Amino acid sequence: MTLLEVDRLTRRFGGLTAVNNLSFQIEAGAIHGLIGPNGAGKTTTFNVISGYYKPSAGRVVYDGRDISGMKTSAITELGLVRTFQATTLFHELSVYDNVLVGCHLTARIDPFSVLFGLKKDREASARARVDEILDFMDLSALKDELCSNLPHGLQRALGIAVALATEPKLLMLDEPFTGMNPEETRRMMELIRQVRDSGVTILLVEHDMQAVMGLCENITVLNFGSLLAEGAPEAIRANPEVVEAYLGTPV
Ligand SMILES: Nc1ncnc2c1ncn2[C@@H]1O[C@H](COP(=O)(O)OP(=O)(O)O)[C@@H](O)[C@H]1O
Ligand SMILES: [Mg+2]
Repeated sequence: MTLLEVDRLTRRFGGLTAVNNLSFQIEAGAIHGLIGPNGAGKTTTFNVISGYYKPSAGRVVYDGRDISGMKTSAITELGLVRTFQATTLFHELSVYDNVLVGCHLTARIDPFSVLFGLKKDREASARARVDEILDFMDLSALKDELCSNLPHGLQRALGIAVALATEPKLLMLDEPFTGMNPEETRRMMELIRQVRDSGVTILLVEHDMQAVMGLCENITVLNFGSLLAEGAPEAIRANPEVVEAYLGTPV
């Protein structure tokens, strides 16, 4: 089953075409990679899918429904969620409270009313869910730590935890491995696999080719905003056009 269909998507910024007539599909349950050189249009594609930018042309169909041009908050409600980055986490709140806020981003209530102890019944179920997610992400021991005190790699993990709290069906990750050491990379790969195995489909934009090749079943390659190639990691790795435009020497 196709969970996401990007259909002849174009996004222009003034005279620049950042994404040009791009089509690809993501199967439910997959870890799908989106790769290509800097400036290829990966983040723009990501931003159009998640509703941060409107398409100039074309459509995004998610779970059988045309979501092109819908607001980010409405798209999040439907279960299409991007990870929370260091800049969108609440640095002066604890790990626990960050995830608690995430639990209420889709519940159409003010997350702060939860922090201040209102809406008791909802709060109890949210708190149970926070415990479950922290456990799943191996963050339980750090639950009272302030977000600002976490090292880089753990802030990334927290960003995913907050996204998971919204109960996504499709989770989009933009370069989650950037700046990670090999141990953090290994741990993040494990986490992404675990998240997928829990039933969440994943779109991964990433430059770390070992991570991409190790995680993805299917990879879409962009170059100058257009589709350059698509296929399984082995085929992408061996594709001369991809090697020439992006990979350099075969990996
Ligand atoms: N908000 C914007 N305004 C103008 N140009 C943009 C904007 N966002 C991206 N671009 C341009 O679109 C192209 C694709 O950028 P981007 O999607 O960030 O590529 P990638 O993520 O693959 O590195 C680049 O030439 C970039 O400068
Ligand atoms: Mg980018």
